[in-house]
Amino acid sequence: MLLKEHLLKNLDKKLASLIFEISKMCELIRRELPYRRGKTTMKNMFGEIQLVVDEWANQFIIEELKKTGLVKTLVSEEEADIVKMSKNGIFNISLDPLDGSSNIESNNLVGTIIGIYKKDFPAPGRNQKAALYMLYGPLDTLVYATKKGVHEFLLTNEGFILIRENIKLPTKGKLYSVGGLRKDWSSGFKEFVEGVEEKGYKLRYGGSFVGDFNQILHYGGIFAYPSLVNKPEGKLRLVSESNPISFIVEQAGGRSSNGKKSILDREYKSLQQRTPTYVGNKDLIETLEKTLKQ
Ligand code: F6P
Ligand code: MN
Repeated sequence: MLLKEHLLKNLDKKLASLIFEISKMCELIRRELPYRRGKTTMKNMFGEIQLVVDEWANQFIIEELKKTGLVKTLVSEEEADIVKMSKNGIFNISLDPLDGSSNIESNNLVGTIIGIYKKDFPAPGRNQKAALYMLYGPLDTLVYATKKGVHEFLLTNEGFILIRENIKLPTKGKLYSVGGLRKDWSSGFKEFVEGVEEKGYKLRYGGSFVGDFNQILHYGGIFAYPSLVNKPEGKLRLVSESNPISFIVEQAGGRSSNGKKSILDREYKSLQQRTPTYVGNKDLIETLEKTLKQ
């Protein structure tokens, strides 16, 4: 089944149309990547040097979304403020244009992460109507989630075709994928990771949140970018990164946590806010929360 048919069968027309328009960008982004390598002289609002590709993907996606007329406002990792889009738009979008973009240098996974809301920002992630990501890997895939389920599509000559419908995390996970330096982890988190290692989970960490999460969606386990001793909120951005992935994992029968509660219930004051991010199988997240509390 083609993505378009799947969307029209399951979603209201406007949301279906928005997700389909986003999916059309995948091929164009993928095609441009070889020509957009290198660094700019600018920094984003997180103080990170913007790569040419970040800046390009950000502008490209914003312009394409404007053309749909469906988007009212947008928040992006590469923009300091809320971007006003179309006056009559009905959706508000969070955007990480190219997650893991430093991976381009070494030819590892990168992807685009999007959250879709009707509520205006600032809105907790629980208000998302849908979330999706596109992965530019050996295969180009798109995963979208609504409250009706999580589905994966593969880009072929015919367009995106359905390859997995109603995805649920495997009951018993296989992997753990953990960021930050071990010396900066809290003692509780160290203890948790030791427990996971003893249980035989295998370490697989690639340095792109969306890519690392995608393997958890397939094989089960846990992804964590934890709270660090000198960076208690960790590294990942609540609005553009952690909220959409948390929505997807929860719809796939897993859990998200900031160490205490679902990331989707976190209130926030600034678009720049970061959050410790733990996503994966329920049993692991519960053990983690207990271990951190001790
Ligand atoms: O966007 C931030 C990001 O690139 C994530 O995609 C990834 O999970 C993380 O940073 C990698 O950070 P580190 O280089 O510390 O492993
Ligand atoms: Mn990112």
